[in-house]
Amino acid sequence: MPLQTDGMVISNKRIKSVYYLLGIDCSSIADQIKPGQFVMLKVSDDRSPLLRRPFSVYKSYPANHPEKRKRGWLFILYKRVGKGTQAMTTLKSGEKVNLIGPLGNGFTLPPLPSSKNIVVIGGGVGIVSLYPLAEALKGRKLFVFIGGKAQDDILGLEDFKTFNSNIYVATEDGSLGVQGTVVDLFLSQRKRFRRDEECYLYACGPVAMLKALAGIIKPKNFICQASLEARMGCGFGACWGCVVKTNHPKTPYQRVCKEGPVFTLKDILWE
Ligand SMILES: Cc1cc2nc3c(=O)[nH]c(=O)nc-3n(C[C@H](O)[C@H](O)[C@H](O)COP(=O)(O)OP(=O)(O)OC[C@H]3O[C@@H](n4cnc5c(N)ncnc54)[C@H](O)[C@@H]3O)c2cc1C
Ligand code: FES
Repeated sequence: MPLQTDGMVISNKRIKSVYYLLGIDCSSIADQIKPGQFVMLKVSDDRSPLLRRPFSVYKSYPANHPEKRKRGWLFILYKRVGKGTQAMTTLKSGEKVNLIGPLGNGFTLPPLPSSKNIVVIGGGVGIVSLYPLAEALKGRKLFVFIGGKAQDDILGLEDFKTFNSNIYVATEDGSLGVQGTVVDLFLSQRKRFRRDEECYLYACGPVAMLKALAGIIKPKNFICQASLEARMGCGFGACWGCVVKTNHPKTPYQRVCKEGPVFTLKDILWE
């Protein structure tokens, strides 16, 4: 059940270039949030920006987490792109912030047996929503593809290394890993996954990346869930400002915030 609640900033640090990690003590959301769900954050007390901003939760520590000190904490890894995220960079430890969450549907975990191929593909800040998914799949073999424009846009690499995962990195300028897009890199490695075996694929990133991915995967072998990004007004289904076109005959327009942000990739009709 989503709730509107206050949290307290515990840390807000620049991790590199335009990327920051915001820690918030907010046990009611940390306790409930599932991989792929998001929160709407009131980024400043001022009237501007008026609208809340949507963010995935990178890490969360529920009440039963073994690290007692961190219980109730959640972390947002964000990119400074405009007015709202600029305002976020000025948040200080001890400040109060208001959040609504958990919102959206989140990822459906792959079925057992654990031998199934599981592929995670993240572009830029898209990797944020995939980290809690990987954590939920701890112990299972993962193939993780991380992409970005340049080295500074590769996020979460060290965190993903703690899992049982094969990691592949692509940057468009070649400054880290293979030069090219993360979808090209996935395509070049596709022979690793046997044609006759189902492969569970989880993706999040810019529209161009998801569109390219939809163009190369055969839904017969690849069962792909993708988390979409959209500009959001309310974040909880009221304004219809975030719709995407789908091939569902009865509900061709679906709300990224409510029916999503996670969709079956083959259901999305790209404009
Ligand atoms: C479900 C969901 C989860 C998200 N999770 C994260 C996250 O974990 N980390 C993170 O850094 N960002 C995330 N985003 C994107 C984030 O919400 C936007 O970057 C933020 O709202 C921008 O606010 P702003 O005021 O700084 O930018 P604005 O001033 O509103 O816009 C600045 C520029 O960013 C573009 N932009 C703004 N919002 C979006 C968007 N939603 N999608 C694509 N382009 C956009 C605008 O077109 C404009 O060019 C997520 C978005 C959604 C929908
Ligand atoms: S943002 Fe209002 S319906 Fe999705």
